[in-house]
Amino acid sequence: MELHYSGPRRPITDEVRKGVLEDFPEIGMIQDASLREKVVEAWSYALSCSDFTRITQIPPEGNPGAPVLKAGTQADHLRGVLRLALKIAEEFAASWPSVEIHRDVLLAAAACHDVGKPYEFDPTNRKRWAENPSYAGQPTFRHSVFGMHVCLVVGLPEEIAHVAVGHSFEGQYMGLSTECFIVRQADHSWWQLAATLGLVVEDSMKSMPTMIRVRRQP
Ligand SMILES: [Fe+2]
Repeated sequence: MELHYSGPRRPITDEVRKGVLEDFPEIGMIQDASLREKVVEAWSYALSCSDFTRITQIPPEGNPGAPVLKAGTQADHLRGVLRLALKIAEEFAASWPSVEIHRDVLLAAAACHDVGKPYEFDPTNRKRWAENPSYAGQPTFRHSVFGMHVCLVVGLPEEIAHVAVGHSFEGQYMGLSTECFIVRQADHSWWQLAATLGLVVEDSMKSMPTMIRVRRQP
């Protein structure tokens, strides 16, 4: 049995870093320069661990196969979740000035919540896992868990890695930070709202709340 080691499949280049910022310009809203650079590095590292070279090459899916957007790319989801998380934070901060929300943590966490997706969606990994799931699992790591690994490898703080692992199913078994809870709500809301607005392939909605009814084009 062949063993596999996670890591970049090719050098992490400035071209990849430039592509990350072009595909996900909201990363530029992070004010702390060190945090901003590490977010770019996290995505660049994650892409280099896969066959993808751009975020816009990753299919627009929540988990592989479900839910699936009818159009667009993974970048549309990431950008929407970051902006929605910020709007949630701004609404509460405006109405309740006493609340404490760490804006840069929220932005960096929203930017990195799905940073494990290049690994989980990678065609080479998926083919290998499907051929013999008993060797290394299927997937070996979900995007939330691999995303936590990526965050820690590139030197992002624990507060950001926590959101990568806590935003998805794994979060049910943890206590979540405030920023993690906001990102989690923005992420799940984004998919459910996309579904009711008719933006999601209906066959891919099995994991969504059964109360959702899809607005169809007249
Ligand atoms: Fe997401």
